[in-house]
Amino acid sequence: MTDMATSSDLDRVITLADFEPIAHGRMAGPAFDYVAGGSWDEVTLAENDVAWRRFRFLPRVLRDVRTVDVRGEFLGRKAAIPVAVAPMAVQGMAHPDGEVEACRGAAAAGIPYILSTSSSRTMEDVAAAVPDAERWFQLYTVQSFEYSRTLVERAEAAGYRALVVTVDLPVLGRRERDVRSGFTLPEMPHVGEADTLGPSRYGALEMQRGAGLTWQWIEEMRGWSSMPIILKGILAPADAARAAELGVAGIVVSNHGGRQLDRAVTAPDVLEAVVNAVAGRCEVWADGGIRRALDIVVAVALGASGVLVGRPFYWALATAGRSGVERAAELLREELLLALPMLGASTIAEIDRSLLASAGS
Ligand SMILES: Cc1cc2nc3c(=O)[nH]c(=O)nc-3n(C[C@H](O)[C@H](O)[C@H](O)COP(=O)(O)O)c2cc1C
Repeated sequence: MTDMATSSDLDRVITLADFEPIAHGRMAGPAFDYVAGGSWDEVTLAENDVAWRRFRFLPRVLRDVRTVDVRGEFLGRKAAIPVAVAPMAVQGMAHPDGEVEACRGAAAAGIPYILSTSSSRTMEDVAAAVPDAERWFQLYTVQSFEYSRTLVERAEAAGYRALVVTVDLPVLGRRERDVRSGFTLPEMPHVGEADTLGPSRYGALEMQRGAGLTWQWIEEMRGWSSMPIILKGILAPADAARAAELGVAGIVVSNHGGRQLDRAVTAPDVLEAVVNAVAGRCEVWADGGIRRALDIVVAVALGASGVLVGRPFYWALATAGRSGVERAAELLREELLLALPMLGASTIAEIDRSLLASAGS
C-alpha cells in the first residue's frame, strides 16, 4: 500500500486507460495481477477489450444538439451517466479505506456503487460513511443460504437499495496468474475463513458451489427482502427470458470480466438477442471491457439501458482514492458529452440501433 496520489498523478490521466499503469506502480504485483487477470487462457478477457470496438456508427446530422443530457437511469433513479461501479472484491488492496473510499467517489460522481460480498469493509461501515450514496449489495451465496439470508437482511437494514445476485460463479474460475504467483485473498468480513474447503479464502468463495444456487433459490430470495433483484452474469437469451418471467428487476449481461468461463461469448455478442428475449419485462445492463463512452453508446444502441464498469474504477481507486473514482466517471461523462452531439443525439434515450452501421460480427 502506498500513500495517496499526488495531484500530478491525476493530471496524467486523460482517459480511463491511463489509470492502469499508475495503479500497476502502486499495487503489489500479485494483487495487481489478481485484478487485471482472467481465467485459463484469458481468451474472453482479451475479447472483452475489443468486442465493443467492432461496431461502426452511422451518425445523424443537422439535429439540434445544443443541449445534451447524458444522464442515465437505473431502477427508476437518475444517475449522472448510465454507468454503475461493478462489484469488485477486496478493494482494500487498492486503498486503505477500500470500499468506503470507492463508494465516496461514486457518490460524488452521482453514479450507483455495487458493494461486493467479498468486500474488505463491512456493508455497515460503507453505509455509515456514505449514507446517501446509491448503494446496492452484490450477493454471493457463500457459506449457506441461512447465512446468505442474514447478509441480505443486513443489506436492506443498512439502506442498500438493490440486491445484485451473481449467478455465474457455481465454482470459482481458475485464475492461473494467481496460481503462479501464490496470491491469496486478504480478509473479507462477509465471507470469513474457509473452514472446510481449503486453506485460503478462495476456498470460502468455493462454498458458493456447496450452496447449490438454482432458479428455485432466486424465487425464494424474493421473500428475503423488499430490495429489487438483479441477476448478474447472464449470457444465454433463454436464461434472460426465464429471469424476466420470474419478475426480476434487471439482469446484467456479463462474462464476469473474463474471470469465470474462458471462451464464453462477450456481452455485445448476445446483447440484442437477450434484449429481444426479455421484451421489456426488466432492465438489461451489460459489462466487460467498457472503457470509452463509445462502448457505452454501443451497449445502449444494442438495447441496454446502462452498463457496469469494473477494473478502471479499481485502478482509479489505487491511483487517487475517491478523487480517482470520481475522475474516472467524469472522463466517461466528458466523452459522452462529445459523442452524443456527433451522433446527432441529445439524450441517452435517443440512442438506438439505427446509429449502428454494422452488426459488428
Ligand atoms: C478484481 C475483480 C473482482 C471482482 N469481484 C467480483 C465480485 O465480488 N462479485 C461480482 O459479481 N463480480 C466481480 N467481478 C466482476 C465485475 O463485477 C465485472 O463483471 C467485471 O469486472 C466487468 O468487466 P471490466 O472489469 O472489464 O469492466 C470482479 C472483477 C474484478 C476485476
